[in-house]
Amino acid sequence: MTATKGLEGIVAASSSISSIIDGVLTYRGINIDELAEHATFEEVAYLLWHGHLPTQAQLDGLIDQFGQYAGVPADVIAGLRLYPKDSNSMAALRTAVSSLALYDSEANDMSREANIRKAVKLQAQLPTIVAAYARIREGKEPIAPKKGVGIAHNFLYMLTGEEPAQVAIEAMDKALVLHADHELNASTFAARVTVATLSDIYSGVTSAIGALKGPLHGGANEAVMVMLDEIGSPANLEPYIQNKLDNKEKVMGFGHRVYKNGDPRAKHLMQMSRQLGELNGDMTLYEMSIKIEELVTGQKGLKPNVDFYSASCYTMLGIPRDLFTPIFAISRVSGWTAHILEQFEDNRLIRPRAEYVGPVNAHYLPMAKRA
Ligand code: ACO
Repeated sequence: MTATKGLEGIVAASSSISSIIDGVLTYRGINIDELAEHATFEEVAYLLWHGHLPTQAQLDGLIDQFGQYAGVPADVIAGLRLYPKDSNSMAALRTAVSSLALYDSEANDMSREANIRKAVKLQAQLPTIVAAYARIREGKEPIAPKKGVGIAHNFLYMLTGEEPAQVAIEAMDKALVLHADHELNASTFAARVTVATLSDIYSGVTSAIGALKGPLHGGANEAVMVMLDEIGSPANLEPYIQNKLDNKEKVMGFGHRVYKNGDPRAKHLMQMSRQLGELNGDMTLYEMSIKIEELVTGQKGLKPNVDFYSASCYTMLGIPRDLFTPIFAISRVSGWTAHILEQFEDNRLIRPRAEYVGPVNAHYLPMAKRA
């Protein structure tokens, strides 16, 4: 038995939800480029859960359900008020999502109907939690969700308390579409491993949030913005990046385990970053990002991934940088729950083996004989 480090190249599940074939990403067989251009996030969530795009009536029904479920139990909001104000925002989200299970009477109902309903609830409630915590830690009151509007619109509204501009809603919606699912990424795998023990959907999503938090996965979008902030001005850019490359340090937002010729989602976010810069009348972040790409791709051959341009986009939308990864979770919970539902359809415990590399034939030593 020999281990493959990082399970690279190992096919660990069958799935009909999303595919990456020859560098092309599809959701249920539809190219992400088409979805980025035409679909709303609500259509994509429905597609991931049900395997087909919704009719108008089905879409209206889903948006109604989001409105019905978006309120978070008062005790969960009360819990958010108790967290230290400087908590890591992903740690706060992970804790709050875990606590949602305590207030859902069907948390342990394993029927498919109940699990689909819980997927819709989680999708509706994550934006409310992220926005509420962001306000509470600033000493502001949370804002109740609106009914009858999409997830992107509602999230921006709950975050600021103001009606978001149409252009901001559209940009956020597209970012949510692009992040919704991605085959067997680390957080989705974590979710599937958890529920394959026949644990509940809340446990699966809590595991996934924990995995997404790390800077090698979802946490990279925040790390990109930390880097842009550290660079500060275009004049510092080249020496800063060159120093990282010379010291073989990782440049966040570049590289990917599966895509070696570029992440198909990155071009949409790059375009969005340019458009938001033009709208804001400030191209600095976009131009700095382009210059970093030139240097890193030029010298290392590494291409930007989904996280690289999302950092400048979210910043230009006025979003604090430690909410970038929670926003990723707001989108990816659609994919996580689709995978959890798929895992339950044909479940088998996920229990791989380890290649043992420790001592053999060792013996118990009495305390007096230990060094
Ligand atoms: N900057 C500089 N060098 C890099 C980078 C990078 N961002 N990414 C990979 N490399 C180099 C590594 O140093 C390594 O070089 P070596 O062979 O000389 O040691 C080589 O490329 C292979 O890198 P690994 O880390 O082994 O590749 P792996 O497939 O394990 O990791 C990962 C992929 C984690 C995405 C990696 O590219 C990385 O750490 N990127 C930065 C973090 C990031 O942007 N994560 C977001 C990924 S997308 C997502 O999760 C949503």
